[in-house]
Amino acid sequence: MGIYSMSITDSVTLLGEEIAREASYLFAYFRNVLAIVGMIYVAYKVSRCTSRIVEAIQMHLIGQRSDKWVEKYGPWAVVTGGSEGVGHAYAYELAARGLNIVLLSRNESKLKAAKADIESSYPVTVEYIVADFASEAQTELYKKIEQKLADKDVGLLVNNVGVMYDYPDVLLNISSEKLWQLIHVNIGAATMMTHMLLPQMIKRGKGGIVVISSGSATHATPHMTVYSATKRYLDCFIQGLAYEYRNSGITFQCLVPFFIVTSMMDYSKILTHLGMIAPSAAVYAKSAVGTLGQSFCTAGYFPHTLQLWIAKAVPNWLWMWGSEKVNSFLRREALDRNELQQQKGDKDKISKYKIEINREQSLEQSH
Ligand SMILES: NC(=O)c1ccc[n+]([C@@H]2O[C@H](COP(=O)([O-])OP(=O)(O)OC[C@H]3O[C@@H](n4cnc5c(N)ncnc54)[C@H](OP(=O)(O)O)[C@@H]3O)[C@@H](O)[C@H]2O)c1
Repeated sequence: MGIYSMSITDSVTLLGEEIAREASYLFAYFRNVLAIVGMIYVAYKVSRCTSRIVEAIQMHLIGQRSDKWVEKYGPWAVVTGGSEGVGHAYAYELAARGLNIVLLSRNESKLKAAKADIESSYPVTVEYIVADFASEAQTELYKKIEQKLADKDVGLLVNNVGVMYDYPDVLLNISSEKLWQLIHVNIGAATMMTHMLLPQMIKRGKGGIVVISSGSATHATPHMTVYSATKRYLDCFIQGLAYEYRNSGITFQCLVPFFIVTSMMDYSKILTHLGMIAPSAAVYAKSAVGTLGQSFCTAGYFPHTLQLWIAKAVPNWLWMWGSEKVNSFLRREALDRNELQQQKGDKDKISKYKIEINREQSLEQSH
């Protein structure tokens, strides 16, 4: 009985030892596999990071080739929303590279001023078309633009036009008119203008199509929901096009800027004082134009490239949480400023009224 029980104990012990040995082999094996997978992952991340840094340095710091622009993208470039802000500054940079420009926007006096500004600086021709991309008569609008562009060899289309809400806010505080405006201007204009001008570029086997998206489209951005969604549309639109027409000789580009000081940012005083983080349209465009043909998707301006890296690295929940906080703050700022302006307006009205009364009283006394 003793011998019998000892042999059972021995075999159980032996079995346990055997299992422990096998387990430690297996563990060592998996540890090695995990270490190799980890090393490959780290190497992949490091090489991606390095190539991004090298690309950014090459694009933004070493300098941008500006030769053969007319040959590649000329003789005409069309810039939507080109009367002010980024569109105007971008057109200015294209003119510096020898391209003739057609500007499109609503306000004729602003268009005239932009034309005069560019033509007085560079020996190019600037024409303009007065067009409201939010117009209710969408079909007629694009027929009219097509007719006006019929005699031009357009080698570059810059889909710049875009509108935002008056200030960040939640969906139900935005009027339906404003929402249609965002859809027609931010999505419709880029789609229809590209559809109109791409065929002639394909025929010539060269040209360029640029869309201006936004950093707000890297994730869903609460309190700018529709704006950021329309900008995400542009990302997908240009990516799909670049694939469909990859053998056409045409250059496609998606610019992804963050804050730029233009009238679109008028709702916030703070945003206009961020220094390099929020450059002027001229500074932004000078940098962004030179990236055409060098990068398919870029922020276009070095400090924005850094912001784009961070934006892409943060998880969705963190982005949404942070942007809701920032946008709520900016909304409060805009509302406070509106209120102050209204109070000032009321005060002005009261003081004007008092002046009128005083004048009437003194007139009565003098009679
Ligand atoms: N500013 C930023 O911080 C920022 C950041 C990221 C992306 N973006 C994008 O960059 C692009 C340019 O923005 P921006 O800041 O330069 O804007 P902006 O200063 O407000 O200029 C907008 C331009 O579009 C024209 N426009 C507006 N509504 C129009 C309509 N319904 N039909 C035709 N033209 C119209 C305006 O001229 P009229 O008034 O004469 O029509 C103006 O020329 C936009 O796509 C915007 O989404 C801007």
